[in-house]
Amino acid sequence: MRIIRNWHTINEEKWKMFRPPFRPSEDDIKNYFYYIKKSSSKNILILGATPELRDITAELKIKTFIMDYSVNMVLVMSRFLKIANPKNEIWIRSNWFNGTSNIGHFDMATGDLILRNVPLHVQDRFMKTISNMLIPNGCIVFRVHLLNKEIIEKDSTKIIKSIFKKNPVKKNISNKDLFIYKRDIEDLITSKLFDVNTNLKSKTTDKRRFFKNIRDYLKNNDLSEIQKSMLKNILKKWRTSVSWIQRDEKEIENLFKKYFIIENKKISDDYEDASYYPIYILKKKN
Ligand SMILES: C[S@@+](CC[C@H](N)C(=O)[O-])C[C@H]1O[C@@H](n2cnc3c(N)ncnc32)[C@H](O)[C@@H]1O
Repeated sequence: MRIIRNWHTINEEKWKMFRPPFRPSEDDIKNYFYYIKKSSSKNILILGATPELRDITAELKIKTFIMDYSVNMVLVMSRFLKIANPKNEIWIRSNWFNGTSNIGHFDMATGDLILRNVPLHVQDRFMKTISNMLIPNGCIVFRVHLLNKEIIEKDSTKIIKSIFKKNPVKKNISNKDLFIYKRDIEDLITSKLFDVNTNLKSKTTDKRRFFKNIRDYLKNNDLSEIQKSMLKNILKKWRTSVSWIQRDEKEIENLFKKYFIIENKKISDDYEDASYYPIYILKKKN
């Protein structure tokens, strides 16, 4: 199977440029914390290296296994830990598809936005593999992107214009707040335009069209220096990334229902579009 290895290229500086929905928000972190605590998990498997999830399991003193095929990514993410100590974690350098039959079974698994990293034709196998890694009644709690079908092929110019109009930069803003403001707007525009440019056949974002939308907007509109720099940043930030898998709610829930029972679905309310990035709590079908 083809492995997407673009994560090897990420570094600390680049990671700081991402904000919700591409990072878990404050509310997402609270929701993850609530469900992981409620599960009384004793051993948890984190798919990927997300620091916010590692801090939660450390705070709750849960034995934590991290499974990622990129050691570089786990090392880079470790610099963002506030509570967890890598010495107390068990790192498994492996493809998620290898499963954990040689390690054991887990009462809980988690991972932020992992499904859109998995190629479409093996998403079914992926959910089955997760189910096999869990004990009977084991759960997975994870944030999932749901494609907003309503905006596919909508006019990207109107979308960018309305985001800029709704979110003017505040007067006398501090440098720190300006940094966050810019990243928030960049990621909101990106998230919406990824959906706008979804190819419904391949279920991926057409990156060429996405970049063209941004370049055209830059060329054809009268923009402030801040707006120009945000659009240029988007072009830089996503240049080396792969196209993600984009599926809608119905398709995703049908996939889950093959191997899991949907116990709950929690939507945060601290970023626009959070309703398209819910946290699902799934219980393994025994
Ligand atoms: C969890 S995902 C998505 C990013 C996420 N939103 C976050 O907060 O980190 C990214 C991580 O998954 C890892 N990864 C992606 N596909 C994988 C696979 N098939 N097996 C193991 N690790 C994988 C990458 O190396 C990377 O560290």
